[in-house]
Amino acid sequence: MLNHQYTRYSLATRGLGRGWLLLGFTVVALIGFLSSAPVARAQDSTIRAIQNIFDPLSAPAETLYSISLLVLAVCALIFLIVGGLLTYAIIRYRRRGPEDDHEEPPQVYGSAAIELAWTVPPILIVVMLVLVTARTIGEIQHHTMPDAAEEIRVIGHRFWWEIRYPKHDIVTANEIHVPLSTRQNRVPTEMILESADVIHGFWVPQLNGKTMLVPNYRNTMWIEPYATGTYLGNCTVLCGQQHANMLIRVIVDPPDVYQKWLESQKTKPVVDPQTAEGQRQFISNSCGTCHRIEDSRATGVFGPDLTHFASRATLGSGVAKNDDTNLRSWLHDPQVLKQGCLMPNMQLSDRQVDAILAYLRTLK
Ligand code: CUA
Repeated sequence: MLNHQYTRYSLATRGLGRGWLLLGFTVVALIGFLSSAPVARAQDSTIRAIQNIFDPLSAPAETLYSISLLVLAVCALIFLIVGGLLTYAIIRYRRRGPEDDHEEPPQVYGSAAIELAWTVPPILIVVMLVLVTARTIGEIQHHTMPDAAEEIRVIGHRFWWEIRYPKHDIVTANEIHVPLSTRQNRVPTEMILESADVIHGFWVPQLNGKTMLVPNYRNTMWIEPYATGTYLGNCTVLCGQQHANMLIRVIVDPPDVYQKWLESQKTKPVVDPQTAEGQRQFISNSCGTCHRIEDSRATGVFGPDLTHFASRATLGSGVAKNDDTNLRSWLHDPQVLKQGCLMPNMQLSDRQVDAILAYLRTLK
């Protein structure tokens, strides 16, 4: 897609002016952007990084997509009519010579026909859009969940997501695994959205619209994805310095893979004598005051639960890949990868970092 754009760009630079170049580039970029969507859909287990409401892959997102097409079509029609009349008036009644400077065009007052024409149709259009929107909201909010539906609690924190699976007694963070839903086996996922501190916003555009996470309040929404892969999303409400790095990953697994994931998240950490030193360092450096690790003295709730930390693909709520280089950097000073995050630099020595890193890597 990139190559395609750059070829057009270099051809265009030869003869055209800047304005045309910009316009051309925008059009090509737009075409490339829109045409890339079906390619992603055909692949399996991909990273769905294009956050595009025009490529819905889940039931509520599809409903929102169709209503957005209707609204866009109505607006496009209004734009064409108004823009067309304006263009006509500009050309038809333009200044034709010096004689026009002394003559006022004929003035129209109190024409009932014109007054009705520009008030009644707009009111009807707005009423139509209100009714259609109200029906869509009702359809999404009063959707009945099948018994097989999965249930998840998502709790927003500055600047990460706590994820709980009450039915399975699982706690994790930032990466949300949900089952794939098919026509034969419908498994939607209901989400309860809450916040531990300030207002956050949950939005994975290909799965559903935005929903706020408000302190002392429970919001709910649901998704029903019908394509596997990793969907990226964002926090949508400015919640502090690292708002932009409060990233969401929703991993949609086929049913058997999902069941395996659930099982793996229920296992207890293995006791590995080789990493006993790391565990000791973890506790003695107060890591366990903020983080919880099952079957250990780490019982904190301010930071992400690390019981299965090594099974996650990313660090710091999606800010970096969960590899040894990034983890070492994070343990030395989290402020390097995520400046403003609430985990302080614990002034660990290289030896302590290595020991804790080895310990964290056993938490699969
Ligand atoms: Cu959380 Cu922005």
